Amino acid sequence: MNRQQLLCDSRSLMKSLVILISGRGSNMKALLDAKLPTENITVISNNPKAAGLAVAEERGVQTLVVNHRNYSDRVSFDTALAEKIDGYQPDLIVLAGFMRILSDRFVNRYQNRLINIHPSLLPSFPGLKTHASALHEGVKIHGCTVHFVTPKVDYGPIILQAAVPILPDDTEQILAARVLQQEHYVYPQAVRWFLEGRLKNIENRVEICETTTRNTVLYSPGLPE
Ligand code: GAR
Repeated sequence: MNRQQLLCDSRSLMKSLVILISGRGSNMKALLDAKLPTENITVISNNPKAAGLAVAEERGVQTLVVNHRNYSDRVSFDTALAEKIDGYQPDLIVLAGFMRILSDRFVNRYQNRLINIHPSLLPSFPGLKTHASALHEGVKIHGCTVHFVTPKVDYGPIILQAAVPILPDDTEQILAARVLQQEHYVYPQAVRWFLEGRLKNIENRVEICETTTRNTVLYSPGLPE
């Protein structure tokens, strides 16, 4: 048996997902439309006005609100959220534009089964306003990152990244749209790999079983052929 086989464990397909949102829910929509190998998906929002709730309901997906405003502090909100989540016994919890910082206790409870998408090439530009920061710093390549969540915010083992060029006329909005398009592509892929048991976290590096890596280089601006 070679190393690759040893790393792969697709014997038990994982079937239950909880997706946490706070707003628009376009990443959630990409996940719901991706026909992932799941038996059960539940969408939970901390924000009763999140537009994504209606998007999920239109697709017949069960939704739930745990309004953070009803709790006096982060720990009591996280405890209530965890109770709801555990009721669904999810194999994976997916943060899809969930804009609350989660307590260490919450994050540790779901170690190795809590993932996030962040709109930058981490570890560059953690936090908010990532596109404005990328433009401000004059970087030429920007993107998004899917990663396992650890107590340090916008950190943790990286599963998949997509890079896009920054072009001369970019505004924050134009750049955000270019990155978001890639978010919708990479997030379902990363979740599928997880559900298929193809992700192995080895000393902070995530290996993906049986995937092909094309030997490509991205230059920005483009170089002559
Ligand atoms: C996405 O760009 C996502 O990467 C970002 O919020 C947006 C949510 O959009 N998440 C974070 O910044 C988390 N640190 P969506 O609600 O349309 O998916």
